[in-house]
Amino acid sequence: MAHTFFMPGIILSGEDAAVEGLKYLPEGKAFIITAHSNMQLGLVEQFTKLMDHEKRSYSIFDSVDYEPTDKIVEEGVKQYQMGGCEYMIAIGGGSVLDVMKAVGLLVSCGGCISDYTGKRSISKALPFMAAIPTTAGTGSEATQFTIITNTRNDVKMLIGMPAMIPDLVMLIPEMTLTVPKNITVSTGMDALIHAVEAYISKKSQPLTDSFAISAVKRIFKNLPIVYEQGENKEARQEMAYAALEAGIAFSNSSVTLIHGMSRPIGALFHIPHGLSNAMLLNHCMEFMADSASKELGRLAEAVGLTEDKMSETKKAKCFLEGLAQLCTKCHVPTLAEYGIEKEEFLRMADKMAEDALASGSPQNLRKCVEKEDIILLYHKLWESEQS
Ligand SMILES: [Fe+2]
Repeated sequence: MAHTFFMPGIILSGEDAAVEGLKYLPEGKAFIITAHSNMQLGLVEQFTKLMDHEKRSYSIFDSVDYEPTDKIVEEGVKQYQMGGCEYMIAIGGGSVLDVMKAVGLLVSCGGCISDYTGKRSISKALPFMAAIPTTAGTGSEATQFTIITNTRNDVKMLIGMPAMIPDLVMLIPEMTLTVPKNITVSTGMDALIHAVEAYISKKSQPLTDSFAISAVKRIFKNLPIVYEQGENKEARQEMAYAALEAGIAFSNSSVTLIHGMSRPIGALFHIPHGLSNAMLLNHCMEFMADSASKELGRLAEAVGLTEDKMSETKKAKCFLEGLAQLCTKCHVPTLAEYGIEKEEFLRMADKMAEDALASGSPQNLRKCVEKEDIILLYHKLWESEQS
């Protein structure tokens, strides 16, 4: 079977990425999607100043301050149409970028966002989409996916189709320098888990492997640096590249068990996505290690955790230890430390396991995962709290 591989059309990075990016924008009025917090930080102004200088017209929709919902998307569609906009620019983290894709889908094809779950193609082209990520994590700038919460049933809908990959990406390191420690960790861990899951997925292919390995190497080296020194521009740029690489990898391969189990936690307990991924990381990796020891061993080699004569299993174990150490270095909290009630969490374990399996992600592992396995893993998250 042939491997298919999609990525953004144009990727600009480095000091003049924003200036250069203007040359690729279409004519007409832009719809700039962002979060109010990015307006307050002056991040949007950094870009609109350049737009103003070139006398380009735009309107700003700055309502994406939380994880995106169908209601925010509907409001975005209304504002886009009322403003007579012709293309979109997203300046923000994964939520902002995801809203841009969903708005683009609806302004082109109509209907509700929930109509598109399970669809892989559409008959109309989306408006031109430019992405300026302000965090290094979700990789949404490079992926065909958007995740929008359905407010009627509290389920995070995963919608994916190549038409939603942004046309233009601008990686501007200055945009990420003000990201606080907790978001640096949650987004950085998200990128790491994208890369690891893309690499061990049964849908991986040679091209996704290259991007995944490169992302894992960059993150092992640079996440501890940006955690301690947020203003380190070089390390921030490396993390931006890593998030993009990881996004390209999982967009063409897939995520697996961790993301499948993490989305229901986010929908019900509102823990930031990357953080709930990181909370699940160690137990899920232990569960899947026997089915991916060759891949995990190669990742251990790539980040320099192995010695020549080690067995494949030993190398895989070294990688799992490396992941655990990275979580410790970055102070990833437990569920209890984050303020989640154990009884309430476990009461929802059955529903969360069903939602995780329904997402299809756990089935991308190279081993069979049953609902009971997932429930057990949700329980294991509390083991350290009991000891
Ligand atoms: Fe993710």
